[in-house]
Amino acid sequence: MNIKTRREAAIQASIRNARDFLSEGTTIDSLNLVKGELMALCAQSHLFPRSDFPVPDGDRVERCFLVHEGDHGDFALYVNSALPGQAYRPHNHGGSWAVIAAVEGEETHGLYQEVTPDTVKLVNQITVKPGTAVSMLEEGIHSIHAEGDQPLLHLHLYGKSFARQGERTEYDLELGIAEHLVMGELDYIEDAR
Ligand SMILES: [Fe+2]
Repeated sequence: MNIKTRREAAIQASIRNARDFLSEGTTIDSLNLVKGELMALCAQSHLFPRSDFPVPDGDRVERCFLVHEGDHGDFALYVNSALPGQAYRPHNHGGSWAVIAAVEGEETHGLYQEVTPDTVKLVNQITVKPGTAVSMLEEGIHSIHAEGDQPLLHLHLYGKSFARQGERTEYDLELGIAEHLVMGELDYIEDAR
């Protein structure tokens, strides 16, 4: 069996378990089980060789590979392959829960609570690196800052695919405003299924 076939089998098994864990509802506890599942998938780092998920060249900081999506655009799993320096300001995921775990590289996630429709406050910080993960409920808001000088290879699992997340809210902390971004069919997603 080649690596892609073995990777697909491992992903299918993890997604089956994740669906099972969330079958009674999406809660902090049930998402913690999904977090464990995604970390276990990441620990099989030989299934995610850099040759299959290369870092970008040119001006871009990241590449985003879709490796699984359910029939209804649910349980969408992406591989984020990024250069040091990747950063995103606070944003939600259009009503989708999210779990992020690391195969390689380290990034800090700020977790925020909405204070007003336009402003958020930092309530926690988590470093995602091999052996750790972060999860967010449907209303979760986070920012991302890559740390160190190692490229990232992280797995991002969402209850809804980017295309189905519809409108995300992004928060500009300096200006104290919220901006709305329609995800739609993002043209930079690469289908690696
Ligand atoms: Fe995000």
